[in-house]
Order: sequence, then structure tokens, then C-alpha cells
Amino acid sequence: MADEPMMPLDESIAGEQVAEVNLPATANPNSPYAWPKERRILSTRVNRIDGPVKVSGRAKYSYDMKRPGMLYGRILRSPHPHARITALDLGPALKMPGVKAAVPIAKVGGKLMYVGDEVAAVAAVTEDQARDAARAIKVEYEILPFLANVEQALQPEAPPVFEGGNVKASQTEEEGSITAGFAAAAHIVEQTYNTQVQTHVSLETHGCMCEWEGEKLTAWVSTQAVHGTREGFATSLGIPQANVRVITEHMGGGFGSKFGPDVQGIACARLAKEAKAPVQLMLDRREEHLAAGNRPSAYAKIKAGVSADGMLTAFEAESWGTGGAGASSGFPLPYIYTFPNRRRVHKDVYINAGQQRAMRAPGHPQGCFITEMLMDELADRVKMDPIEFRIRNLPPQAPNAMWREYFKIGASKFGWDKRHATGDPTPGPIKRGMGCAANRWGGGGRGTQAQCEILPDGGVVVRCGTQDLGVGTRTLIAVIAAETLGLQVKDIKVELGDSNYPFSGGSGGSTTAPAVSPAIRVTVSKVLQELATRVAPAIGVAAADITASGGRVHSKTTPGKGLSWADACKRLQTTPVSVNAGWEPGLSASGSSGVQFAEVSVDIETGIAKVDRILCVQDCGLIVNQLTAESQCIGGMVMGVGYALYEDRILDRNTAMQVNPNMEWYLVPGMSDIPKIDIMLMNQPERGVIGIGEPPTISTAAAIANAVANAIGVRVRSIPLTPQKVLTALEGERAGGTQ
Ligand code: MOS
Repeated sequence: MADEPMMPLDESIAGEQVAEVNLPATANPNSPYAWPKERRILSTRVNRIDGPVKVSGRAKYSYDMKRPGMLYGRILRSPHPHARITALDLGPALKMPGVKAAVPIAKVGGKLMYVGDEVAAVAAVTEDQARDAARAIKVEYEILPFLANVEQALQPEAPPVFEGGNVKASQTEEEGSITAGFAAAAHIVEQTYNTQVQTHVSLETHGCMCEWEGEKLTAWVSTQAVHGTREGFATSLGIPQANVRVITEHMGGGFGSKFGPDVQGIACARLAKEAKAPVQLMLDRREEHLAAGNRPSAYAKIKAGVSADGMLTAFEAESWGTGGAGASSGFPLPYIYTFPNRRRVHKDVYINAGQQRAMRAPGHPQGCFITEMLMDELADRVKMDPIEFRIRNLPPQAPNAMWREYFKIGASKFGWDKRHATGDPTPGPIKRGMGCAANRWGGGGRGTQAQCEILPDGGVVVRCGTQDLGVGTRTLIAVIAAETLGLQVKDIKVELGDSNYPFSGGSGGSTTAPAVSPAIRVTVSKVLQELATRVAPAIGVAAADITASGGRVHSKTTPGKGLSWADACKRLQTTPVSVNAGWEPGLSASGSSGVQFAEVSVDIETGIAKVDRILCVQDCGLIVNQLTAESQCIGGMVMGVGYALYEDRILDRNTAMQVNPNMEWYLVPGMSDIPKIDIMLMNQPERGVIGIGEPPTISTAAAIANAVANAIGVRVRSIPLTPQKVLTALEGERAGGTQ
């Protein structure tokens, strides 16, 4: 993978949500719908069109939905990490005040695999009544042996908790000759690195409101995939897809964890059916941490070789990680850099904890952290500057592999020349340091359909069944339609987030912008052609000679001949123009690259690390909206700061219960933790649209961890970089240990 930069995102780690992406790396300039060379609105800074409703609190999320006569749903969850249900009686719950329905989720005889695994659900008039009723459900459990962490699961005498074994080895990845590679090495580094389990912490939790009208279900769902969720409801409930409508007007983040109705969505629909009333079932923060997904941990024991002149020669890794109860933990390794000889064996370790799910660039932050830490250690051995060392060992430059260039321009902008050598720290207790790391991602998409109507009063409505996760998709659609019709962003009415609108895939793998943008460009171009046909006689030129710009519909060859937009639309009289069309190749591509730099201050008396500033150099093909693309970078890096320094799902080793299933002790960055952030977005208009949702989060933690090592002169090979780990590493050095 790493040595074939023109290849798209590797599909093995793309997970459940990412459609197979096999797209070229550049757009087609000869497409009849090619992006305009002169961009009027595209690539500029356009405020989110839903900004005002969001900041004023008027935007309605699934959590905010209210329906007449609605009930509240609540799930009873396993208090045990591993247990068999021997008896389940919903009767006592049904007798509780206000309760209107109760449904089992687990079966008697069935097993529960983690604390938080679903047992049954109830619906009641108030939230408190639903909570009380869930507690009243009578369950008998046979408690079974469990595994609370990776170390326990890897013990030879570990109880056989998972059918087929607690550990599942994957195939060996191998290229070249390890023996020859190590023979060519002048220095060898052998180290173990690891990353923690991180949960998604979407601001809006998972859940929905379900309402039946006879056999038809309407569900307001916090989801990344309205059409996928429609299919999920239909399949799980055994009803036609045509009977399901999923609406997601606004949603508060998913990061890969919200692609279907989920257990709670199906339970909610069943409760609503049984109660004959709308039911809202949203998870609380504890449930969110326990059962709604996480980024798996990663461990790697690595032996790597480098030649005296700083060329990578060999890489041998044994890696493992846990995705919880029976789920995988794969990640790419080595990441990006070219090791001509390599061998890697990976194993998934199962423990009794909530399962992993795709999380913003699944696998990449782990692979990036491990590889980039190793790269700095190898650079130190050959006494080379880390950037010079990286540049030597990167794959060849290509449109989707621009790291060499980005490292150079980023280093200059960041002031990398002021970085002191590791082991030569600044005087005083506050040590400062710099680090860097690279990232890659696919970000191609396809298949979106759309509808555009031009109304006789001049109104333009664009409908698309995609969803706006908060990233700015609504605005992106308006920008493209306005650019194409020669209008302003405010002239476009965008309707999305409804499965009754034309199909669009799930928002995963950074595929939304590259799937939706071409669909809008094609559909709106076609509706303009239709308008041209209808008004050509009035303008007095051939339809093929008509275009729209500057709020006018006019002749291309004799621009003076034309009508204002409003007058042209009036000629439609009573019949609007309406076109359905969709994604076509040539306007989007796959494959992005980026690099990041971090500067940190570490107090060696307290062990507290603080990120002072980060610079990201990132591309995403043609930038549709500079403002929201930068916003993706900011969000990704803030998430990376959390991954580097704070976030950690901590399970009690004796009970397998999470000790921090909240936002008090599961730490995410607060305002004062967020560094100065600089962004250099590299516009590549000739490549077409590429997604940027995921890449900016990949290399932040690696750059920070390398900066901490540079600051304090010892390397902490495990994130989060807690004060305790920092102090222990410093202590080890004082005791005469090596880095
Ligand atoms: Mo993402 S993890 O593809 O939503």
C-alpha cells in the first residue's frame, strides 16, 4: 500500500461504511460538466447557511424532536461483563406507572458480552418513569468468566470466553526479504508502541424518534446514512423499504458510529408500534461510552533497520489490539513510508467490552502514531533531521502523494529550523519541542442522485437524500448550485436529510463531498439546459447558446441578448423545470495527502504536556468551500489533541466496568487545551472534489507525541501522554534507563 501512492484507500480498514472506491486521482477536464476554471463562489469562504438556526438553537436535532403524545424509551443493559440470561420477565416493568410498552432485546439463554449490552427496552410517559420501569424488569443472570483487558486475554490460562478463541490472528503481510533488510541495516531500533481505546463522544448521542401511521414508519434519526438507515429498519422489522421514511434534518456528529438504526433504533420502532404512540429513545452519555462504538486500541512490537545513510531497510512487526467483544482491531502498518523489506503479523484480541466501530479515519491514527514515532527514533540513530529523514523515505511524489512538498513548505512556515535536537533540551522546567507526521486518505465517493427544480418565481430548490453531519453539506450543495446557475448562495433552497429525496450513500470514508458535489453539478447543469430550452425563443437564440451568469440567463456568444433570472423564470408560466440526475465520473477523485507539525510545552515537574500550536498542510482536491474545509481540519486536529493527551476508555481490571463513562473523567479537549491552529489548504482544482473529513485527524497525535519526545529528551511510546507516563519516562531516564 504505502509504496503505491496512486492506489486509493485500502478497503480492508474502510470498514462497514465505505463503498468500494476505485477512482482515478484526477478529474476529467473534458467532462461536459467540468468545474468552471474561473470560480466565483467555489473555493471561497462561505458561511454555513444553517449557521443562524444552529447558533440560535432553532435547529431541530433528533434529540430535540417532540411529537404529540410521545413516550420516552429506555434500555435495560447488562450490569455484567459476561453473563447468560436465565430468566427475563418484563411483567413488573409493565405494571409500573406510565409504562405503555416493553420489548425484549436479548433472549433467555442468550449471552451478554459486555457491561452495557442490551437486555430489553421500555417506553413510558416520562423519562423518569421509563428509567424506573427499566430497573423493574426482572432478569436472572448466570455470571460467566470474563476478560477485562488485553493482558488478561493474552494469558495462556485465560478462560475461553469467545467461541473460536480470544485471539484471532490475521494473515502475515510480507514483502521483500527481512533477512536481507536487516543485513543491510547499520542501526536497528526495537520498541513497543501503543494507543488506547478512544470513544466517539459525538455531541448528540445515538438515538431516534419513531412514529407509526398504520404500517408506515417515520423515524427521525441521528444518523450518517438516511438511506442506509431506511434499509436497516426495513430489513430488521421485516417491512418494505417503501414504508419507511428516515429524516435527519440536523445531527450532532457520528464520526463513523452512526450508519444504521442500531439496536436502540429497532427497539424504539418496536416500542412505538406496541404502544401505538411516537417513542423517542436517545442514549445517555454512559450508554454512549459503553455500547455505541470506539476506536480500537493498538499495540506493536517493532524491529526496524536503517542504513548508515538514512535509508529504511527493514520492518518487522507483531501487532495486536482490541476492538472489544468479538470485533476486529486492524490498522495499516507501516504507514506511508517505504520499507523495502517488511513482515507484519496482526492479531485481534477480544475482551468483554463494547465493540469498536469505524471512527474518523479508522486505523490510520494508530498506524500513523506507531510509524511516525519509529521514524523519529530511526532519524535520531542516523543523526538526521526528522524531516530530511522522512523525505528520503517517502514514496514518489504524485498528485495524491505530495508529502515531500508539504513537509518543505510546512517546515518553512512552522519555523522548523528553530527546533533543537532531541536530547538537547531548553533550560528550566518547561521544555519545548516540535514534531511532525504525515497522513493519507482515499476520500472518493460516487452514486449520489439529486433533484433540482426551477420555479416560475425564480426559486431554485435542490433536493438530495444525503445528510449534513454538521460538516457543511447543505452549504456545499448551495455553493455548487449557485456557481452553476450564476446566482448567489442565498438564492438556493437546499433540502436534504430525508430518505424520500433522491438516493445518497452514507457519510463515511470522507465520501460525501466527492459523491454529492458531482451529483449537484450535473443535476443543476441539466436543469439549466432545460430552462434554456424553455426560454430560448424569448431570448431569440438557440438553447445551446444559452448560459447563466451574474443573475442573468443569456447568450454565450452575444451576452447582451438575455433576460434577468427572474424574467427568464417568469417565462415558465405555470410549469416549473425539474430534473433528476446524479453523480458522473470525472468531477471527483480519490487520494489525499497531508502533513502536520506540532509544538508543545512540557512541565517536567508536573508531567503536564500542553500543545502550543499545530500547523496542518492538507489537500482535498478542488476546495468547494474554503471555510468548511478548514473547519474539518480544525475539528480533526482538536480530536487529535484529545487522542494524544487525554482520551482513554478505562476499564476496571477486576470488573471490566468502565470507570469513566461520562464527560467528567473521560477527558476531551476543552477551550483552554486547544492550541493555536494554522491551516495551509492546498487547492488542487484539476483533481476534482475529494473528501477531507478524516485525514486531518490522522497525524495530530503522532506529531504531538514526537514533539513531546523532542521537548523532554525521552520518548513516551504510549498515548494518551498523561502526566504519569511523562513523569515515569523522565524517572526512567534519571535512573539510567535509555530512551
Ligand atoms: Mo467515517 S469513520 O468513515 O464516518
